[in-house]
This record gives sequence, C-alpha cells and structure tokens, in this order.
Amino acid sequence: MIANAAERHIPFAATLVGRRELSPDTALFRVAPEPAALEQLSGFLPGQFVQLSVPGGGEVPISPADLPGEDGTLELCVRRVGQVTGLLHQAAAGQPLALRGPFGTGFPVREMTGHPALLLAGGLGIAPLRSLLLHLLRHRDQYGEITLMYGAREPGLMLFRDELVGLAAAHGLRLYLTVDFAREQAAGAYACAIGLLPDLLKGFRFDAGESYVAVCGPPPLYRCLVGELTGAGVAPERVLLSLERRMRCGIGRCCHCAIGTKLCCTDGPVFRLSEVADIPEAL
Ligand SMILES: Cc1cc2nc3c(=O)[nH]c(=O)nc-3n(C[C@H](O)[C@H](O)[C@H](O)COP(=O)(O)OP(=O)(O)OC[C@H]3O[C@@H](n4cnc5c(N)ncnc54)[C@H](O)[C@@H]3O)c2cc1C
Ligand code: FES
Repeated sequence: MIANAAERHIPFAATLVGRRELSPDTALFRVAPEPAALEQLSGFLPGQFVQLSVPGGGEVPISPADLPGEDGTLELCVRRVGQVTGLLHQAAAGQPLALRGPFGTGFPVREMTGHPALLLAGGLGIAPLRSLLLHLLRHRDQYGEITLMYGAREPGLMLFRDELVGLAAAHGLRLYLTVDFAREQAAGAYACAIGLLPDLLKGFRFDAGESYVAVCGPPPLYRCLVGELTGAGVAPERVLLSLERRMRCGIGRCCHCAIGTKLCCTDGPVFRLSEVADIPEAL
C-alpha cells in the first residue's frame, strides 16, 4: 500500500550506517530506514526530498543523491552549514535519525522517456541531479543522449568527480566539468575547464527542440541559464528547475516556502520554467 500524505507526515526511524567525505564541508551519508518504511520509500522520484531529523537539532529538507537502494538505504549528500547539518556531520555510524517523506515533485522521468537529457549542475546542485543521472543511466536504453555539465568553485570542491568520469567511460555519458578558479595545471589534473557553467553552454550543440534540461545550483545560475536555454529553442515546459527555499512543515501547511503563489514543498521543488517564469522572485 502506498503511503498517503497523512502517513508521510509521520516520521519514521532511521540509522546512520556510513559516510564518505566528498570535500572539506560536504559528505555523503548512508541512512538506513526502519524496515516498515521501505514501502513508503519505494515510489521515490529523483528530485523529491525528505525531512531529516537529527536528535537535539531539528529537521532539514534534503534531496537524496540517489534513489533508495533495494534495502531502502538512502544516500544524502549534505553540506555542513548550520545547526542540523553540523550535528549530522559530527554523528558516527549507529546514530539514530528520523525521516519524513518523500515529499514534493520530482523530475518527470516517465515523460522524459525517448528524449535527450541535459543536466546542468552548479556546486551542491549536483546532489539531486546525481539521483536523476543515476536513474537515467540505469535505464540507459529508454533515453536519448545524456549530457551532464557540472561547475564547481574550484577543483577541490568538485563532488563525485571520479565517479562521474567512470560513468562517462562506462555509459557514454557526455560529461563537461568546469571550475570557476584554478591554476591551469590544477584544472588540467582534474580534466576540467576553467570558466563559469553558462560559458560551457554557449556554443554547445544539442537537440534543443527535443531535449529536457534539468537545472540545480545556486540562485544566480538559474537567471544566467534560463535565457540561454530558451534562446537555444528549449521549450519552457521542458526546462526543469529544482528550487530551494527554507522549509518547515514540508507538506503545504505553513507557507514558509512560498514562491509567489506556489509552495516550494508541494508544487516543487522541481518546477517547469513555464510554471514560474511569471513569478519575479522565483529565479
Ligand atoms: C528541497 C530542498 C532540498 C535540499 N537538498 C539539500 C541537499 O541535498 N544537501 C544539502 O546539503 N542541503 C540541501 N538543502 C538545504 C538544506 O536543507 C539546508 O542547508 C539546511 O536546512 C540547513 O539547516 P541547518 O540547521 O544546518 O542550518 P541553519 O542553522 O538553519 O542555517 C545555516 C545557514 O544556512 C542558510 N540556509 C538554511 N536553509 C537554507 C535553504 N533552504 N536555502 C538557502 N539557505 C539556507 C541559513 O540562512 C543560514 O545562513 C535542501 C533544501 C531544500 C529546500
Ligand atoms: S514548508 Fe510549510 S508550506 Fe512549504
């Protein structure tokens, strides 16, 4: 039985079972939910989010960096920025946690079937896009060409770099990496360009009329990319923006996450450009 909205509002127990450091302030946490929650998590879409509680801290929204595995384990790529994420970073394997969800809209992976996909990630925006990327690659024959452009501030802050290079070699993923700043030698060692993500897109040849484009990154990135994409001929309905707002309830009750007339937690976090283009504060 699929959990209804009321059931998803109730937290279930989970345990931190492992972690991998990705950069000085960001790690990939493996979280195992209690067995009773597995069915609830089975319908997870890339781009949806969970509300994660760390005892003594509070609750934060996190978009998993991969869909739950067969054992229901979630991978959460979390940057240490404040109270709750700080407590999570201090936690060791065995730490009890709690989760609510999945919440919000995800990427329309069924509708994207048969089309090329262009994924544009800036900084920590790679977290939800990794989940989409892994889903597309696991069902490689159902999609057209898959391209990932990923920009980080500097080489040491590029998350999942080796994994992405491995996926490109094994699955024919078209991968373009760039960093804002680096000495040429350092960028060369990481096999990435130097420059901003929108620069990578300029002059990039792709089937704009057929493609779905998924974007996640810091707020200024959206403003830069949206004009490039629509100018290239991508339909606004196929420009998929994963937006972030501060949240409380996660289920459309408190209005804390309002974006004009939309709520980020229930109408989003994945919006089509056509839905938010007329909302000045959206991008
Ligand atoms: C749908 C969604 C998915 C997310 N996915 C991820 C993820 O995969 N990985 C990850 O590391 N983070 C993610 N975040 C952001 C994460 O929720 C915040 O970093 C977290 O809530 C901060 O909590 P804290 O208690 O550690 O920090 P706080 O002590 O609450 O705040 C520390 C600082 O971070 C700022 N901040 C907090 N939340 C946000 C926010 N939502 N947007 C912008 N600034 C914020 C505060 O203004 C403050 O300056 C996501 C947010 C949303 C809405
Ligand atoms: S977080 Fe409460 S309405 Fe969105």
